[in-house]
Amino acid sequence: MCGIVGYTGKRQAYPIVIDGLKKLEYRGYDSAGIALQQDDQLTLYKKAGKVKDLEHFIGERSTDGLTAIGHTRWATHGEPSDHNAHPHLSQSGQLAMIHNGIIENYAQLKSELEKEGYRFKSETDSEVLLNFIDDIRLKNQCGLEEAIRIALKRVTGAYVILLIDESQPQTIFAARKGSPLVIGIGADEHFLGSDASPMLAYTKEVVYINDYELAIVRPDELVLKNLGNERITPYVQKLDLELAAIEKGGYDHFMLKEIFEQPLTIADSFRGRLDAAEARIVLSGIDAIEEKLLNARRIIIVACGTSWHAGLVAEYVIEELCRINVEVEYASEFRYRNPVISSDDVIVAISQSGETADTLVALERAKEQGATIFGVVNVVGSSISRIAHAGCYTHAGPEIGVASTKAYTAQLTVLMLIALKLAKAKGTITPERFKELCQELDAIPNKVQQVLKDQVERIKAIAEKYKDARSMLYLGRGYNFPTALEGALKLKEISYIHAEGYPAAEMKHGPIALVDEDLPVVFVASRDTYHEKIVSNMQEIKARKGKVLAVVTEGDEITPNIADEVIWVPQTDELIAPLLTVVPLQLLSYYIGVYRGLDVDRPRNLAKSVTVE
Ligand code: F6R
Repeated sequence: MCGIVGYTGKRQAYPIVIDGLKKLEYRGYDSAGIALQQDDQLTLYKKAGKVKDLEHFIGERSTDGLTAIGHTRWATHGEPSDHNAHPHLSQSGQLAMIHNGIIENYAQLKSELEKEGYRFKSETDSEVLLNFIDDIRLKNQCGLEEAIRIALKRVTGAYVILLIDESQPQTIFAARKGSPLVIGIGADEHFLGSDASPMLAYTKEVVYINDYELAIVRPDELVLKNLGNERITPYVQKLDLELAAIEKGGYDHFMLKEIFEQPLTIADSFRGRLDAAEARIVLSGIDAIEEKLLNARRIIIVACGTSWHAGLVAEYVIEELCRINVEVEYASEFRYRNPVISSDDVIVAISQSGETADTLVALERAKEQGATIFGVVNVVGSSISRIAHAGCYTHAGPEIGVASTKAYTAQLTVLMLIALKLAKAKGTITPERFKELCQELDAIPNKVQQVLKDQVERIKAIAEKYKDARSMLYLGRGYNFPTALEGALKLKEISYIHAEGYPAAEMKHGPIALVDEDLPVVFVASRDTYHEKIVSNMQEIKARKGKVLAVVTEGDEITPNIADEVIWVPQTDELIAPLLTVVPLQLLSYYIGVYRGLDVDRPRNLAKSVTVE
């Protein structure tokens, strides 16, 4: 969702910023633009469409300049169009600005400015903010830095803004609240980005900007201040990320690469944490709040989308192993209703990006009410990881495909480690069962590898056969119910086929009315406590001429006689099974999307990092 890039230094800024925008394409966007400081004037180019459309539009026009800001826009206020694309130029023509986020009180600011004679070229809240800042600057006869500070004190909402001023060469002004901003430090040059990917090729030294901070960035200096004009010492961190991690590495799509990385990323998630031979789990991230977790009145899991599905699996596993009450909440609902939260509650936030606006605000509200916040986050240094009291990173590496795959299995791995560690500390698991589950978890990377090796051709064939389905139903029970939800979400996102996930037994309470010979029903039916019951559900679908596609455990002799299509996964413990059964469903969505000729890495309307509510 909206990508932001900036550069000031000794090199030509244009290729760096354009390349940076391409690195941020995965976030999802519908228009792109760039503003360059050229001698003492600002030059803006912007276009609806992709970054390559912008490049094409710019063609042979001048791109000289050592300072530039660039933007990919994901439309919120106003349709995707050339005039709504960023950067915006202020009415005075002296300032250019890009913005990620939403200015909630923009309508009021706009009407104030209109009364003073301002006219707007776009429908965006961003152009309003820019002119609001410029108006303060002109009226108060103050510098841009001062004007930004005054303006931001009146603004409600979320933002990262980058501004350049035609009269201040080689200077970028940047501020944030609620949306991410990273500044990379080079030798006499600085890079700015929504995340570190645009600067990875140039520097590993970065500063994560916090809410209510204002950065004045020049080639040779980074001045950081709070909105009270006090200087803050930038906290420089070293990035532990290689460029190869954000490239396709020979795969057709990032999504496929990331699905195939899972044996490694799952192992990375437990590396140094799980010692299966010794039956030991070390999770230093929870040490600080272990007592709090063990004595928690409730664990409330807060997340969105795929991360919410990981939370559902965690609910089943933690309640089973630790006998602690767990509730799983959609962050977007939790933040707006008036939930009962006490200091005995621990809020567990699950987020790949660590920047999801709803999750972030839900945590801020819960923190204000005294709850302890624990983060299960992938992106190191992200906003959620920084507001949490404690947490464990999932270590899946950068996930570029918009649909979450390896980040999900990494979340499941970490959540299972947490459940096991707590159960052991609480004494709610026997040493034998603990050891058994540690060993099952340890064996998962190889089992995922086996699915990737043996089942891909079969899944491709199934995908080709069912690629024109109008709708699909995904059913599962127990630990595999969240997998059914996740399978359906993946299909919707990647193939634009309508899909529903349901607990298999709920089918009779409504969805069974949909079943006919045209409805493929995917059963997540690995061998577990509920197996006989789910086999009966399959029979019910067959009796109504529905097509049954089943994910089953190797050695299952009954299901293949009922199902039209079978995908095999190796035997594992039912608690651990969600790590395995989701993999064929990821592949099925991927190949259906590919056969339908869709852009699986960047599905329409979706954003990787949902930084607005
Ligand atoms: C689906 C997907 C989304 C995210 C959701 C939360 O494939 O990726 O549903 O899971 O937007 O994002 P994070 O985990 O970054 O908070």
